Amino acid sequence: VSRLQRDSSGGLTLQGVPLEALVERAPRGTPFYVYDLDSMTDEVDAMRAAFGAEPHLVAYAVKANSAGPILRALASRGAGADVVSGAELELAVAAGVVPGQIVYSGVAKLDDELDRALSIGWDGILALQAESIEELPRIAARARAVGRRGRVSLRLNPDIEADTHSYIATGHDEAKFGIPIEDLGDAIRLAGSHPEIELVGLGSHIGSQLTTTERYAEAAETIVRRWLEVHADLSSRGGGLRLVDFGGGFGIDYGAGCDARPADFVVALRERSRALPPDVLRVVEPGRSVVASHGLLVTRVVMQKRTLARAEQRRWVMVDAGMNDLLRPALYGASHRIDLVRSSSAPRSAARVVGPVCESSDDFGSYDLPEQLDLLAIRDAGAYGFTMASEYNGRPLPCELFLRGGAVAEILVPRSAAQWVADRLRSR
Ligand code: LLP
Repeated sequence: VSRLQRDSSGGLTLQGVPLEALVERAPRGTPFYVYDLDSMTDEVDAMRAAFGAEPHLVAYAVKANSAGPILRALASRGAGADVVSGAELELAVAAGVVPGQIVYSGVAKLDDELDRALSIGWDGILALQAESIEELPRIAARARAVGRRGRVSLRLNPDIEADTHSYIATGHDEAKFGIPIEDLGDAIRLAGSHPEIELVGLGSHIGSQLTTTERYAEAAETIVRRWLEVHADLSSRGGGLRLVDFGGGFGIDYGAGCDARPADFVVALRERSRALPPDVLRVVEPGRSVVASHGLLVTRVVMQKRTLARAEQRRWVMVDAGMNDLLRPALYGASHRIDLVRSSSAPRSAARVVGPVCESSDDFGSYDLPEQLDLLAIRDAGAYGFTMASEYNGRPLPCELFLRGGAVAEILVPRSAAQWVADRLRSR
């Protein structure tokens, strides 16, 4: 259930806290992100419950939202992490994620990143996800250098076209991700030839914002079939695999609908993996579905303008949040619902909501809005919002407020515009 509601006086509230009151609490006013930490931990609980008694790991994809308060909250509910850089790895561990519950993906991991993943904690992370055959000798060399054995899971590309935006579909044969299934035999042989590599599993991730479970289930079935073959082969030689990583990609409802709930993906993968031995660790890597619906970007209308375009009246609403704060509309043509922070009964008309950045793509889309406007809340901005934000046009990154139990629990404040100016001038 969403904790975003409208109170009796028409004010939008999150966890019962009026957003208007939060504007006062935000260190730099608007624009700012506000997150509902309790609903995020509920998401993890629901996904974990869907696994029932099966050994599982919800490895939260840190790239969706890397804020410390979120990572700490999720780790406290037993979530692990899926990281894609050395910095994300350091951050996850510093926030309390157990290294043995971290998987590391990425097509071009650097030597020092591999070294850190191999040596962090007592015994390194749960698994480095190798995305190519070529990566295996590199991992072996780094493992030798740091004096550890590297646990490796092979990320396979199952050649399944996910029904989503092409920029975030990853499981088809033209994506740069993963090892083609045809090369699996070679990859297993190569891994086996390096004593520094301990092959622990297979995985796949076919894409993001999946709104049905069909393709995900198909991929799960493919991976499980291969897993059983490889496991049987290794077992006959005294080895064996111990995890399967089904990837993330569970979609959310941005307003256009999403039939599948995160738990449905877990149910789908469980149905396709009944043949797995019971003690095998089932890993999922959800990012968006944990955080997206539980974050808002609050922005203020700076001014409005009217133009005549091809004999058509056009109304522009210029807000103080831009593509540098929330890139998804500009990058993917994504559309986010926008709510009035204070409801209004004034007559509405169509308006294009745009940001202040000097790019035509700095455009959130067309909305029906009252003539008089002040504060707006851009919804479902908890995932890939702040993490993809930039300081383009000399605009500071937005502040982030974190709500827990109906109160502001924490606030993150990035460097100011004045600090940006100083940093752009100072050379070493
Ligand atoms: N695992 C791997 C290997 C991934 O590449 C990703 C996302 C995930 C897990 C998490 O996927 P999720 O559960 O969040 O869908 N910036 C885009 C989304 C990019 C997704 C990249 N990979 C957006 O704003 O829609």
